[in-house]
Amino acid sequence: MPFDRFALNNPKDQIDKIMRRNSGKFLSNIQKRRSVRRFSDKPVSIEIIKNCIAAAGSAPSGANKQPWHFAVVSDPEVKRTIRREAEKIERDFYQKTAPEEWLQALKPLGTDENKEFLEIAPYLIVVFMQRYGIDPGGGRVRNYYPLESVGLATGILLTALHFTGLGTLTYTPAKMNFLNTLLNRPGNERPFVILVVGHPAEGVFSPDIAKKSLHEITSFF
Ligand SMILES: Cc1cc2nc3c(=O)[nH]c(=O)nc-3n(C[C@H](O)[C@H](O)[C@H](O)COP(=O)(O)O)c2cc1C
Repeated sequence: MPFDRFALNNPKDQIDKIMRRNSGKFLSNIQKRRSVRRFSDKPVSIEIIKNCIAAAGSAPSGANKQPWHFAVVSDPEVKRTIRREAEKIERDFYQKTAPEEWLQALKPLGTDENKEFLEIAPYLIVVFMQRYGIDPGGGRVRNYYPLESVGLATGILLTALHFTGLGTLTYTPAKMNFLNTLLNRPGNERPFVILVVGHPAEGVFSPDIAKKSLHEITSFF
């Protein structure tokens, strides 16, 4: 989906026309992104994943602290362990702790405690948020707006993976601290999200859900 370029000394209405076309192209492509919950095991080159993570690393962050770490998991044994731990947590959630309102909200998505995709998809990218940094002497360094910063970087990562042609799922088991131990991440980091990445399985369809209209999500002053 090539975007059209323009020079700032082009006439204003010409620039406007090009930018409108670019924004329309972006919109129609990004609107095709939907969460995928059944993946193919077709391999994906690591270079693609690296490019997308580098794109995420270009995100803005509070005071440029870049408070993120991306752990890329492709090892079948590690994926199996993540699935086993996540399904334990999910069984507890679906069968015991989930409030009825939450279960009702999940119903249209058709999710349950089975997380086969954690083993089948070629990559799990575990995004960690650094609550604070560590200086070379081991002291704490303050991070600013780490949650907002990591959210923005993850959004760019998701967008980059989608533009590459890959399917993704934003996955968040109710407890994720087992990922620190499994992936050797330090105590200043908190798992933020698991991005499941790969080609969608043949014939997979997304649940029939609607997005709010532009009118509902905006106000102009
Ligand atoms: C922070 C966050 C957490 C999510 N956690 C889960 C999850 O644990 N399991 C799941 O199947 N989907 C999860 N999703 C995906 C949402 O269900 C999905 O984005 C939403 O239903 C809209 O569908 P779409 O992504 O196809 O537009 C999560 C999404 C976000 C943004």
